[in-house]
Order: sequence, then C-alpha cells, then structure tokens
Amino acid sequence: MNVLVAGGAGYIGSHTVKRLKEAGHAPVIYDNCSRGHRAVVDILKVPAVIGDLSDRAALSRALRDHRIDCVMHFAAYAYVGESVEKPLMYYENNVANTVGVLQCMQEAGVNRFVFSSSCATYGDPDRVPMTEDEKQIPVSPYGRTKLMVEQMLRDVIGGDLRFTFAALRYFNASGCAADGTLGEDHDPETHLIPNVLGAIMGIRPNLTVFGTDYPTPDGTNVRDYIHVDDLADAHIRAMEKLEPGKPMFLNLGMGRGFSVKEIIAAAEKVACKKAPVVYGARRAGDAIALYADPTRAKQLLGWEAQYKDPETIIRTAWNWFSKHPHGYEGK
Ligand SMILES: NC(=O)c1ccc[n+]([C@@H]2O[C@H](COP(=O)([O-])OP(=O)(O)OC[C@H]3O[C@@H](n4cnc5c(N)ncnc54)[C@H](O)[C@@H]3O)[C@@H](O)[C@H]2O)c1
Repeated sequence: MNVLVAGGAGYIGSHTVKRLKEAGHAPVIYDNCSRGHRAVVDILKVPAVIGDLSDRAALSRALRDHRIDCVMHFAAYAYVGESVEKPLMYYENNVANTVGVLQCMQEAGVNRFVFSSSCATYGDPDRVPMTEDEKQIPVSPYGRTKLMVEQMLRDVIGGDLRFTFAALRYFNASGCAADGTLGEDHDPETHLIPNVLGAIMGIRPNLTVFGTDYPTPDGTNVRDYIHVDDLADAHIRAMEKLEPGKPMFLNLGMGRGFSVKEIIAAAEKVACKKAPVVYGARRAGDAIALYADPTRAKQLLGWEAQYKDPETIIRTAWNWFSKHPHGYEGK
C-alpha cells in the first residue's frame, strides 16, 4: 500500500517507515521536522514532504500525488508536562490538525487511518494489567487530546461507511532499530531508557528517580516497555487487517511491568557501568503501575511483542546511543 506517515521523521514514525519499506509497502513521510529529524529522511531514502499538517493544500496534494491508500498519524505533541502548561497548543496540534487530516482524507477518498493513541487515555487504572475496556479518564490535557481523537473517529466511522481505522494505545515506546540505523532523539528527552543511558555516558549529570515509596515491590513506578520495532510491526498488521466499518482499539504493550529500579539495573548491566542516580520525591500525576493486557491485539492482529525483557530492548538502545551520544545531529 501507499502509506502517508504523518510524523515519519519522529521516533516511532521513522521506525515504522523503515518496517513499511522492508515489508514491501511504499511509505511517504509527511513531517514539519519541528520535533523530528531531517537526517531520518536521508537515512530512510523514501519520498518526503516537509510540511505542516495545518497546510491542507500541501496535505491534499501529498495524498493525491502519491495515491495514498492509508494514513498513519504519528504527528502530535507528546509531553504531558508541556500539555499542562500549553493546553491550547496541544488541542490545536493534536486535535484540530487531526480534523484537517481526516477532512483531507475524505476529500481525496482515502479511507484507512491508523492513529497513535496512548495508554495516557486511561489515566489511573482501577486494575493492571489493563484491557481495552478499562475506563478512560485521562489525567492530563495530552491524554485528553488523544481520547478526543478516538471519540472523533468513532463519530466519523458512524457517518462514513467506507472509512475505517485502528486506534493503537501504546505503552512506553522504547529501544532503537536493531540494525543501529535509527534511534530515539527527543529534545527534551523525558523517557527513562535514554535518560539512564545518558547519565551512564556522562551526557547528563545524573538520573532523578521520582518516588521510592510507591506500593510496588521496590517502591518505584512500574511501566510496560514496548520495543519500537514491535510497535511498528503492529501498525503494519493493523493497516493490512482493516475492514470498512470495523474499527480497532488496541493496547500495544509487552504485557509485563518493570520498575524504574529494574530498568536502571538492566541498563547498568548492558553498559557495564553504574548510573549516577538521585532519589527524589514523587512527581504529581504519576500512576503507580501501568501495564497492558495485549490479548486483543494478539487475537485481532496475530501480533505480540517479540522483545520480552528490558535488557534486550536496552541493548538496541545502547547500540545507537553509544554511537550517537548527542543524537542525530550531534548537537
Ligand atoms: N513515545 C511514546 O512512548 C508514546 C507513547 C504513547 C503514544 N505516543 C504517540 O505516538 C506518536 C509518536 O510519538 P514519538 O515519540 O515518535 O514522537 P516524536 O515527537 O518523536 O514524533 C512526532 C513527529 O511529528 C512531527 N509533527 C508534530 N506536529 C506536526 C505538525 N503539525 N505537522 C507536521 N509534523 C508534525 C514532529 O516533527 C515529529 O517528527 C505521538 O502521537 C505520541 O503522542 C508516543
């Protein structure tokens, strides 16, 4: 299929472009590079439109010129803290621009949509592991933007019999391409694995652990780390399985939770070096434990995570970070 990958110069989008190409599809990157990397476009060697999603003329042209069959929509802002400080910026980019994408798709007759949703749509779950039937009460503007798009998609499918979509609720995306070609390069970086590796390499002075008194076995938060290549593969399967009128809402996680301390220990083992760690107070809004029950994705897509432990995931990240300590551009 010809696939427009909005946000294809970013972390998860770029890894998905790579896998799409390897699977014989024809991906086209659409990205304004505000939070992604032009270097990725050169590495991936696929057609790319450097443009903003709010530029509907450019987007419509891209859909038509490349005879797009499916849009994968990764392009969004994704920092919880920033969304609290600048909610309108989040509603504009994550919600209003998605309205525009869907309108352009309708005009161009493109009916398949794969959406980057998030476990942040659940807020604080009543129980773990979390199924897709867990109540969705997000606790941040970021999580609410993702839930709003899910709601909007339900409405769109109700009025358009040809339209279909998958809303993929990722847990903690992690790791880097196994062949070392692509990595994770956010600015600022808020994810645990790049930050602990950065602390080990001396790129950052230390790693702060927020809270050691949670009701978990070692007192630190528990999260579900899903390798970015596993995420990419789930997108491709979802796109291939989509049928008109049959939307999918799927959790994408490994299905197991690991604590912050367990991740630090795994990173130290991989890098053969201790991480300088500072233990701080709890951070407002952090849930105790979040991990997926990925059964539905297995049933509907025949997909499950191939990376099943943090050490293997971190090895792929270490491979990239040790060669790119300052990211793609070497800043
Ligand atoms: N990283 C995670 O753990 C995680 C977890 C759950 C959900 N998600 C979601 O997955 C998606 C991708 O996450 P990521 O970590 O790869 O983020 P990222 O910031 O690395 O990638 C997003 C890309 O979208 C582009 N973009 C943003 N707004 C744009 C616009 N208006 N026009 C054109 N391009 C635009 C950015 O330049 C960037 O390249 C996001 O929607 C995020 O909310 C991520």
